[in-house]
Amino acid sequence: MAECVLDGPGPMMHSRPILIQGGVAAHRCHAADGDRTIKYGALRNILMSDEAYRLTRRGLGGLAAAALLAGPVQAQGAKGTPVRVGLMLPYSGTFAQLGESITAAFELHLAERGGQLGGRPVTVIKLDDQSDPAAAPQNVNRLLNREKADVLVGTVHSGVVMALVQAAREKGVPLIIPNAGNVAASRELCSESVFRTSFSNWQPAYGMGRALAATGVKRAAWVTWDYAAGKESGEGFRDGLKAGGAELIQVLALPFPETNFQPILAQLPGLGIEAVGAFFAGGGAVQFVRDYAAAGLRDKLPLCGSGFLTEGTLTAQGAAAEGVRTALHYGDGLEVPKNIAFRKAFRDKAGRDADVYAVQGYDAAQLLGTGLDAVKGDLDADKALFAAMRGARIDSPRGAFTLSAGHNPVQNIYLREARGGSNQVIGVAAEALADPGTGCKLT
Ligand code: PHB
Repeated sequence: MAECVLDGPGPMMHSRPILIQGGVAAHRCHAADGDRTIKYGALRNILMSDEAYRLTRRGLGGLAAAALLAGPVQAQGAKGTPVRVGLMLPYSGTFAQLGESITAAFELHLAERGGQLGGRPVTVIKLDDQSDPAAAPQNVNRLLNREKADVLVGTVHSGVVMALVQAAREKGVPLIIPNAGNVAASRELCSESVFRTSFSNWQPAYGMGRALAATGVKRAAWVTWDYAAGKESGEGFRDGLKAGGAELIQVLALPFPETNFQPILAQLPGLGIEAVGAFFAGGGAVQFVRDYAAAGLRDKLPLCGSGFLTEGTLTAQGAAAEGVRTALHYGDGLEVPKNIAFRKAFRDKAGRDADVYAVQGYDAAQLLGTGLDAVKGDLDADKALFAAMRGARIDSPRGAFTLSAGHNPVQNIYLREARGGSNQVIGVAAEALADPGTGCKLT
């Protein structure tokens, strides 16, 4: 595989280096490595309206429009030309490992299919979004207008994903979300071009709330980062508790991605609660679980949460995570044949165990493959492409799933307990759970 690194800031360039990985499309490496392309990119960014963008993706009219606006372009849908997939993910910061897992598994599926989907080679373009919502619109622009991505896959952070959703809605470009759980993407902002292979923030937390209430707990608090994922998972937890006759007493939050948990931990014993639920992920989750144990709270107030709290983090959390219960659409010890094969293949490729992020990235590639196969690689056949994706039954390592009207997985939420370094599935917290999809007009 050819690989190019762009590391000089161009006119519209985000400050971090961007990795361009070209499978069969070595020509893109050439096109992307000089001043010439940076100038074209800048020009396209400035000149290209949404409508012109649509045209450049379609037929002769598109080619003519693009030639007028931005100089040389190539036909996008031509057979044999690569499908350009823009992977916008965090490769630095607290969610860096999550982005790496998604990418490795996405590439794993591509490799299993000989680097082709729908009969066309696939070129992957990686962009580090740093989980920074402020930089997201510019990063999306860069992928679409400069790197000429045909398909977007991203991202992890619920704030950052909004720029991707907006672009997919406005330009009709297919978007597959391999993690970010922002509920709006499956509710009021649902769209025929927006798909998710992960979860809505509401789903795992709802399962956890229900499972906690079933143990007899009546009053609990939610601790999280103060952004969409924290807030929405808190709502899921509240709804799950309520369904089981229990109550969410308080939500305590700190800014993302801060990890000074002490002021919050100090408040918990005074709240009159019996348990604590939490949403944190990646490096922040490692720190929170350790700090919670170090504060001596484990015995007084059992800790639980959305499964990200202990996902891909157990080695770093060590004994502090032992016994922590979480709910998620994945877990260790799932007797799914696909899972056994997937875990072995992922370990061989990445040199570490698969986690839920890897599963979601793998399924993003599977979903894209289902769509592209249905239209034989013709991205201009977008209605048929979207219909095939909407109707897909994905043979996932988590177990097969279909998509709801809002294009979000309908899936089991498992109850897990951290034991000896793995998240052992100990039950089903909510079976075939769909996000409520409130406000989505799709059917
Ligand atoms: C999110 O921001 O939606 C998010 C981030 C990390 C996770 C889960 C959800 O592990």
